[in-house]
Amino acid sequence: MTSTKANPVVVGITGASGAVMARATVDELLRRDIPTVALCSNAGRLVWQEEMDENFNETLIEWQEHPSFVHYPINELRAPVASGTYPAAGMVIVPASMNSVASLAGGLSGNLLLRSADVCLKERRPLVLVPRETPLHSIHLENMLTLSRMGAVVIPPEPAFYLKPQGIGDVVDFVVARIFMALGLDQTMPDEMQYQGPEA
Ligand SMILES: Cc1cc2nc3c(=O)[nH]c(=O)nc-3n(C[C@H](O)[C@H](O)[C@H](O)COP(=O)(O)O)c2cc1C
Repeated sequence: MTSTKANPVVVGITGASGAVMARATVDELLRRDIPTVALCSNAGRLVWQEEMDENFNETLIEWQEHPSFVHYPINELRAPVASGTYPAAGMVIVPASMNSVASLAGGLSGNLLLRSADVCLKERRPLVLVPRETPLHSIHLENMLTLSRMGAVVIPPEPAFYLKPQGIGDVVDFVVARIFMALGLDQTMPDEMQYQGPEA
């Protein structure tokens, strides 16, 4: 059996700094009418409250107006995304806390977000992590190495300084473009985000 509809992308939002990157990722998926499933940890909600001008429930209400958007509560382990039979195109965790990175690297899946990411690993589906912490200690680094070796793509949200970003918006757009490439949704970076070499 085949379906003409794109398979859903799962967006996991955890309690690291950088809620604005999650917002921009979901906004862009919905702008493209790509079916999108959002999962947010309890700490993710706390950080959202700190960093955004609205709380997560207010953002959810806005996203839920889009027919391609679905949200499941973090403890709803009976949600379809908890199963390998769910036809996810892939998953991004943005931002990814060191706590969730450590859980995943250790094979722990005690909430729906972690379970969904663990399913991506076991089913060999694209899993993209946007870890945010600084500085990083050895366990952080080892956990990311473990996940990278398992096939996850690790995208630290670092500016492309050579593009001379004019502000946080430019940095966020660059990270989102990287996420879309890593998920296989885009084949190239937008022209304005490609290094052009020295000016003639
Ligand atoms: C305002 C705020 C900012 C935080 N920033 C980070 C961060 O950048 N990276 C990180 O790993 N944890 C950060 N934390 C700590 C995590 O939220 C905490 O470890 C939490 O247990 C993560 O849970 P989760 O993985 O279920 O989202 C932050 C917490 C708060 C309240």
